[in-house]
Amino acid sequence: MPNTPNSPADRINAALRIRFGGDFPVAPDQAGIDELARIANHRSVRRYRPDAVDPALFRLLCACALSAPTKSDLQQADIIHVADPVRRQRIIAHLPDMGWIAEAPLFLIFCGNNRRIRRIGEWRGKPFVNEHLDHFMNAAVDAGIAMMNFISAAEAAGLGTCPISAIRNAIDTVSSELELPEGVFPVAGLCVGYPATAGHVSPRLPLEVTLHTDRYDETGLRENIDAYDRRRHANHPYGKQRRLARFGTADFYGWSEDKARQYAEPERADFGEYIRRQGFSLK
Ligand SMILES: Cc1cc2nc3c(=O)[nH]c(=O)nc-3n(C[C@H](O)[C@H](O)[C@H](O)COP(=O)(O)O)c2cc1C
Repeated sequence: MPNTPNSPADRINAALRIRFGGDFPVAPDQAGIDELARIANHRSVRRYRPDAVDPALFRLLCACALSAPTKSDLQQADIIHVADPVRRQRIIAHLPDMGWIAEAPLFLIFCGNNRRIRRIGEWRGKPFVNEHLDHFMNAAVDAGIAMMNFISAAEAAGLGTCPISAIRNAIDTVSSELELPEGVFPVAGLCVGYPATAGHVSPRLPLEVTLHTDRYDETGLRENIDAYDRRRHANHPYGKQRRLARFGTADFYGWSEDKARQYAEPERADFGEYIRRQGFSLK
């Protein structure tokens, strides 16, 4: 059966052509094709309609989020809904460039939580002897996976989202506003609401760079990144160049120039110290 215009197969192809610059043939009767089309069309949303999200739907999305896999079934992810506008405003005040946080009907913070397992150990009279980087990472990954499940569930329900790691720019404020005890730390915020604009599919590096078979392989990396810079520029050129005073105006300003400029200055260098204060040695 040929693909009908705007069929799921067409939507997958259109999105992935922009995303990766290549063709991804998909059979019209491919199992799960609607869900694949939705995932392929993912986009972060930074403009929201004022419509509230029904509280029952919100709880359902949280339940879907926390249905995500979890390392050793330890269940080390929590979601904090910042419902109090005053509290939210005190956090937002540190992120003036991100107007979408104030506009979003819902603002959530996904946290890693190593506190519960420690408390359970105490109640059960057992020592906690996993004080090392891996147990921090497990909680952080659990929170990230739960956030991704929330994003996927929300998109299936017609909502849009935008993760916000910039909350970690104001880590002390966020931590004290949320009254995070030792063992609990924020991984990222998440804006949630009904999209006011369609947004756009954001191009990614080609699979030649990020998909490997049997062994890690960097063959052609530089050429592939140059080509990606050009493809991305043709689709969505950067509106402005970062850190002009330090780096000047580039004739061609692509993704790799932007990311190199971004990481030429320290970002959240105090986060490790905060995590240690939260009771993680990161050994
Ligand atoms: C962990 C994480 C943190 C992010 N933090 C921010 C943020 O602070 N502000 C923002 O506007 N977008 C943030 N984003 C969204 C990314 O900028 C976005 O995913 C990326 O540009 C690719 O666009 P897409 O999601 O539309 O494909 C974050 C995404 C992730 C996964």
